[in-house]
Amino acid sequence: MMKENYEYKISASGRVNIIGEHIDYCGGKVMPAAISLKNTIYVRDNDSNMINISWTTLNDKVSLQIDKLEEYRNLKYGNYQAGAALMWQRAGHLVKGCDMLFDCNIPFGSGLSSSAAIEVSTIVALATIAKEKIDKVEIALIAQKAEKEYAGVNCGIMDQYASACGKKGNLLLLDCSTLECEYLPLNLGDYSLVITNCNKPHSLIESKYNERRLETSKALKILQQVLDIKSLSEVTNDQFIKYGYLLEQPLRKRVAHIVSECERVNLAIRALKKGNIKLLGNLLNESHTSLKDNYEVTGKEPDALVLAAQTHSACIGSRLTGGGFGGCTISLVKSSEIEDFKKHVFDTYYKATGYKAEFYDCEISDGIKIEKI
Ligand code: GLA
Repeated sequence: MMKENYEYKISASGRVNIIGEHIDYCGGKVMPAAISLKNTIYVRDNDSNMINISWTTLNDKVSLQIDKLEEYRNLKYGNYQAGAALMWQRAGHLVKGCDMLFDCNIPFGSGLSSSAAIEVSTIVALATIAKEKIDKVEIALIAQKAEKEYAGVNCGIMDQYASACGKKGNLLLLDCSTLECEYLPLNLGDYSLVITNCNKPHSLIESKYNERRLETSKALKILQQVLDIKSLSEVTNDQFIKYGYLLEQPLRKRVAHIVSECERVNLAIRALKKGNIKLLGNLLNESHTSLKDNYEVTGKEPDALVLAAQTHSACIGSRLTGGGFGGCTISLVKSSEIEDFKKHVFDTYYKATGYKAEFYDCEISDGIKIEKI
């Protein structure tokens, strides 16, 4: 179908998270950024009660009846769109019939939040067709609801917020307990951020992710018996040393990750503000070790990819980004040596795992874009 036949071109970005992993749902501060890999929707009003969905990369076509959006949970493709439309409708917004052509260049299952980008852009497209003014934070919250209540992943707010509110050239310093957000220009000096996909699909993500969330709510309940806290991100290191014994394993390890990751985010903010990129690199390395040993969300392939990166002399830090169990890593690499770095990582990782690493050259970009065609 010709893209020119549509009324609007709408997009929402994928994201990387620089640091602050698996702490958004514990009220922590996170540091994501929207990237130039994104989901684009070409959309037009069709004056019917159907949302007709097609894709540039798939032969499937799906039609959703707007008064039966509840019924599409088991679709292979189109369920994220149905969930987003249903939650938008339930929040009291008008959902009009329309034709949507999806063009997504965020690799699925890569930990770069293709699902958040699909949910956010679907809501923006529906709002645009209904001539509604866009409130990005409301859209992020409703997109998160779709992920939780429709797709069944009990996620935090980081991905949808970054996808909706990302700003070109900037990181978001998002406080997930208040939703206060500050933008911080990403100035890496002589270094660049390299995103690498381990290319092992992360099949465990949904069940293991929900398991981690359960573990953290159990740990919170136990610590609330001795501490006046609303979320685990409030636990200080001293408090953890004092009361950690109350938690049996693996809960103690999980909280060790959360407490230390929250500290690392604060240190990373200071490091970035002072231009101390080497310190930021160290923090990325420490974050990965904690995700591997304490939070246990990495896996053989992401660990091998991070190790391959860390053993190149131009790399000052590397870690897994996103939900884990596969997906992408980020590395801070001296800009003048990126090509040599990529070759080293590709060869070392291939030897260790038999998988071919893939590198994405993308920029830090705006979250949402709306263009009239
Ligand atoms: C997934 C979730 C986010 C966040 C990350 C881990 O991407 O959707 O809410 O919890 O994992 O930091």
